[in-house]
Amino acid sequence: MCLNLFTMEQTLTQKIRITKTEQSKINEVDFNNLSFGSVFSDHMLVCDYRNGTWDAPEIVPYQPITLDPAAKIFHYGQSVFEGMKAYKDENDDVFLFRPLDNCKRLNISAKRLAIPELPEAYFMEGLKTLLEVDKQWIPTTEGSSLYVRPFIFASGVGFHASPANAYKFVIATAPSGAYFSGKVKVLIEETYSRAANGGVGFAKAGGNYAGQFYPTQLAVAKGYQQVIWTDDHAHEYIEEAGAMNIFVRIEDTLITGPVSDRILDGITRKSILEIAKVEGIPVEVRPITVTEVINAAENGTLLEMFGAGTAAVVSPIAAFGYKGTDYDLPELDNDYASSLKKRITDIQYNRSADPFGWRFKV
Ligand SMILES: Cc1ncc(COP(=O)(O)O)c(C=O)c1O
Repeated sequence: MCLNLFTMEQTLTQKIRITKTEQSKINEVDFNNLSFGSVFSDHMLVCDYRNGTWDAPEIVPYQPITLDPAAKIFHYGQSVFEGMKAYKDENDDVFLFRPLDNCKRLNISAKRLAIPELPEAYFMEGLKTLLEVDKQWIPTTEGSSLYVRPFIFASGVGFHASPANAYKFVIATAPSGAYFSGKVKVLIEETYSRAANGGVGFAKAGGNYAGQFYPTQLAVAKGYQQVIWTDDHAHEYIEEAGAMNIFVRIEDTLITGPVSDRILDGITRKSILEIAKVEGIPVEVRPITVTEVINAAENGTLLEMFGAGTAAVVSPIAAFGYKGTDYDLPELDNDYASSLKKRITDIQYNRSADPFGWRFKV
């Protein structure tokens, strides 16, 4: 079984055609001043689906993609994506964090959007080969990493509202600095929803994020940086923090909502849950009501709230607004957010042992 997989991957690696750029852009990049996801590495991986099958992936110089105006991505938003990071340790070794989980989630998202699933070996071997080609683009300054963006979109044409017959899988990468957003002030949403039962909230579908922009702009205009999404039915439960999963600490218990049609199965979220279990932090995975969060804030038992996701790992919340009132969270010396972030990043950057088997050497 293992031998077969190995043989298949070897064959695929041999099949990945690599065309290198003639003009590297690397000397134009200031690696000491990287923002998040705004400069792009020299190469990208592309892989087309046509005539009912995925072609072998190819690595080409990073370049614009030409599409027919009737490509279904433009009209029906048939697209899914992933977000992950590659890290370099002090020996120049390269690591990914739970990459197979991103691959599996991409296919879960693809299935929901009627996009053909991608063979795992194409994702894993393609990504490894791309990272080998652009290894020098992985930054080494403290907290920085190479942000990796795999995505699939409908390149097939037609104005008929139905799934396309052709797709493109691409992996593009962006050297990115440490994601210090600082503590944020957030608004608990009472009107808009990002997801509904039976919908696509659990998928990383492009349109989910477009739908968040307008309510977030309204929150920003009121002085908040992010929206805390609540359930679509009655806005009674808090569900996600912007494009992150949300955790609440009441006294010593860490609480997060269960994944569902509406809540994305975040890799950071599930890693935090496993670490908390090992560290003896009491954890509850259950729906969190807005009422209990307000009550806990009022009686002083609400100690922390934070978002969890690949980009920031953990993003602490300083205050939240609800129905015109702002509630501040206390400053703690021994907060869970900082210690959980350290535990995860130490594993990601190969600074600590990895008892969970999450680190993947490229
Ligand atoms: C809606 C949403 N929730 C949660 C997450 C966090 O997921 P992960 O920890 O896998 O990055 C993301 C980011 O991918 C997201 O887009």
